[in-house]
Amino acid sequence: MNHFDYQDGALHCEQVSLTELAERVGTPLYVYSSATLERHYRVFADALASKPELHSPKGEAPLVAFACKANSNLSVLATLAAQGAGADTVSEGEIRKALKAGIPPEKIVFSGVGKTDAEMAFALQAGIYQLNVESRPELERLARVAAELNRVAPFVIRINPGVGAGGHEKITTGGAKDKFGISAAEALKLYADAAGHPNLAPMGIACHIGSQILDLTPLQEAFGRMRGWVEDLRAGGLSVERLDLGGGLGVPYFNQKEPATVADYAEMAALSVGNLGVRYTFEPGRLIAANAGVLISKVVHVHERADSGQKFLVLDAAMNDLIRPALYDAFHDIRPVARPGNETASYDVVGPVCETGDTFTRGREMPVMQTGDLVAFMSAGAYGAVMGSEYNSRPLAPEVLVRDGDWYIVRPRPSYDEMMAREPMPDWFAAEPKARIA
Ligand code: LLP
Repeated sequence: MNHFDYQDGALHCEQVSLTELAERVGTPLYVYSSATLERHYRVFADALASKPELHSPKGEAPLVAFACKANSNLSVLATLAAQGAGADTVSEGEIRKALKAGIPPEKIVFSGVGKTDAEMAFALQAGIYQLNVESRPELERLARVAAELNRVAPFVIRINPGVGAGGHEKITTGGAKDKFGISAAEALKLYADAAGHPNLAPMGIACHIGSQILDLTPLQEAFGRMRGWVEDLRAGGLSVERLDLGGGLGVPYFNQKEPATVADYAEMAALSVGNLGVRYTFEPGRLIAANAGVLISKVVHVHERADSGQKFLVLDAAMNDLIRPALYDAFHDIRPVARPGNETASYDVVGPVCETGDTFTRGREMPVMQTGDLVAFMSAGAYGAVMGSEYNSRPLAPEVLVRDGDWYIVRPRPSYDEMMAREPMPDWFAAEPKARIA
């Protein structure tokens, strides 16, 4: 469920008209609903908390660490922080943003295959909950960095469970050939080796097998394997206090079968990995943010080929604003912001960027549109603005957060002067050129 619907003939986000927002802020622009973010977080966290099998020995409900990569706008993170969310981060920048948004360090997880020494040092000094270690050389570097800081690094080992899943091969992470995690046999050995190290605290294991997973079967398979590895470690006399099960549960994009429900996911987790006497962590990203955001764009014009009749709906949003269709052939529902009439036409929906990759969809049957009409790309709150760029020197689309009838520009569109100020020029281009050779 989300809070984007037609009221008085126009699409609204909560009580705010998207037409009015487009007029006030300009297009393209991202709009997020606080109520949807909060609802998605609550539904997920409450479903897990309702399972006693997923409580820690101290009675703690699972840590729900929002995957910041899905949407790291400070105000989005602050909205979730107020609900009690933690953060799954993959860079120093994300850790800094999570902290600034009010997420306490003891709820922050740091994942990723290429953490630098400086990033690990920053994470240790910030006192985060855990680092999810993805390889032997990373663990060796962590030991060294922790020793230099005279700290003990709490970590879990990310195991590659050999079960991959997801909406596209580029977002499948758990397959044996994917770059993520350590094979189980090596992970168990590393864990044992680390147990005696004065600067390393092995706390448990982690996995994350992919993103936009609709069917619970691969998750259940991976979770079952994780249970076995926890038992193997304990059989070897090692202590396992934490189990991080990643994110990945898919969302409806309205073109394919509905994903499994959060209730079924929680039930599956309780049955497959419950009652292990550990503190559980989950890292949902898309599930919380995707349907909490839209990208609003304006029709520049409709170009109809005289010979073939092919119709191009040319928008002012492009692949630099929303790259998912270009990168993953992803489907986004495209709805008219003004309630549409009954007449439809088939459009290739494109942006102005100079490559054919800048095609959002081909042959989409949609209500008839004309110059100046507004469209909303639905389900754009996750992996939308965060993956934006200024390709073709197009300013980053602004982001607006709505709460009830209020709204706020939580990332303004940079002016052209601001864009250019980021590219200082050496003085050899000055109007009065200095002699280059003394
Ligand atoms: N945890 C880890 C370690 C991850 O790598 C990811 C996503 C998540 C959690 C969150 O997964 P989610 O719940 O959002 O599925 N840019 C792509 C998605 C990349 C996902 C990468 N990892 C897209 O637009 O579809």
